[in-house]
Amino acid sequence: MAEVAAVILAAGQGTRMRSSLPKVLHPVAGVPMVLWPIRNAQALGASPIVLVVGVGAEAVEQTVGDQVFYAQQAERLGTGHAALQAREQLLGRSDAVLVLYGDMPNLTLETLQRLVATHLEKHPAITLLSVLADDSMGFGRVVRDGQGHARAIVEEAVATPEVLALRELNCGIYCFDAAWLWKRLPDVTPTPPKNEYYLTDMVGLAVADGLPVEVVTIRDVSEVQGVNTRAHLARSERIMRARICEQLMVSGVTLIDPATTYVDAGVQVGQDTVIQPNTHLRGQTVIGARCVIGPNSIIDNARIGVNCEIVASVLEGELVEEDVHIGPFAHLRPGAHLAKGVHMGNFGEVKNAHLGEGVKMGHMSYIGDAEVGAGTNIGAGTVTCNYDGAQKQRTVIGENAFIGSGTMLVAPVTVGAKAVVGAGSVVTRNVPAETLVYGVPARAQRKLGEVEDEDHCPT
Ligand code: UD1
Ligand code: CA
Repeated sequence: MAEVAAVILAAGQGTRMRSSLPKVLHPVAGVPMVLWPIRNAQALGASPIVLVVGVGAEAVEQTVGDQVFYAQQAERLGTGHAALQAREQLLGRSDAVLVLYGDMPNLTLETLQRLVATHLEKHPAITLLSVLADDSMGFGRVVRDGQGHARAIVEEAVATPEVLALRELNCGIYCFDAAWLWKRLPDVTPTPPKNEYYLTDMVGLAVADGLPVEVVTIRDVSEVQGVNTRAHLARSERIMRARICEQLMVSGVTLIDPATTYVDAGVQVGQDTVIQPNTHLRGQTVIGARCVIGPNSIIDNARIGVNCEIVASVLEGELVEEDVHIGPFAHLRPGAHLAKGVHMGNFGEVKNAHLGEGVKMGHMSYIGDAEVGAGTNIGAGTVTCNYDGAQKQRTVIGENAFIGSGTMLVAPVTVGAKAVVGAGSVVTRNVPAETLVYGVPARAQRKLGEVEDEDHCPT
């Protein structure tokens, strides 16, 4: 039998989000909100984990997948009723049951570890999490007796002025003795006026049974930011982002302005990298050491080596090796692979293409579905015309070639190593190695190194 199982309540309607997306799927720091408590439960070793779903269950299950078990709450009859839906799946499966919310993503693992450790050490019927705060946030109050033992949780709506004045709030996060929870939870009765089954009534039941209730108290309200509205979502996002920035700085990354640095959970950044303002690092992005990123860059699911500089550019799903300089105003799209020492200047776009070591494309070029050999120079305004209206075609350019400004490479086409393409050429046929071509359409003029025949006419 597992030490701890978890129930995550996520059947709430989220009406106030005014969204077609179920509330718990709205991302916080790039991660669907509900995955935050799931990851915490997993990190605590909780098993099984049951997610209680209601509105939008299908979409939630699609996103979360089979890493948890599901319980359906057909009608939204309150937190007690929601937790009860997991009873069948969890009965006899664990010593303790941790209850989490799907819309409270900012709780830290450390706090939950403290909650669970206290519970396993003291074996009360309930260990509840409370927070000390001046703003009640609509939370229930924890009422203690003369000895300081928790006696009840009183919801704000029904609290007397005396109880309302209490500053200790119920976070809604609990660890229960499993056997006792599953025995007594069905005894909770509906509370008027909404006739909801309150999970908080379990505190009163424990007291009635003469069983101890433990309390673990936190002081940082940012941990228990619940998300019911878009404003709450923005707050939750800000809290998470600040935490991520803090961790990056602790690990040796310089953030010029954490307030305008937007880093998703799961992004990795190497030591001594400097992140300039207004930079977004998203998804599973990995950035090496000693880079300078930004200002004004969006980097989405990219892998970037050491010593790179990326100024005011957008990168999505690509691989950039070391010593690469990108920007300003460059766009890398999925499948771009820039080898060591590539320089990609302003208004360049690279998609599904490999640029070999030391390739230079300084200005206003589009390289798509292509292979460019090491040391090749791509002149300003070069375009791989990779789409023939039906299919994408490949362009292959050898090493140390020189592509003149304004060249159109009409794919499929190959340009050999050390070939030279004159400015303004439209290349429709393969160019042999070490050959000069130019013109529209471009034709071979001479094998480079041969004596030029002044009277030679283009073929
Ligand atoms: C609950 C607590 C309150 C505490 C507060 C902290 C009760 C009666 N009150 O308030 O003391 O201060 O949390 O946030 O428990 N849910 C369901 N099904 C339901 C009802 C709720 O799955 O039928 C889920 C919601 O999606 C949410 C969580 O349970 O994730 C809490 O629900 P919410 O309505 O926010 O809690 P309150 O009752 O306001
Ligand atoms: Ca709430």
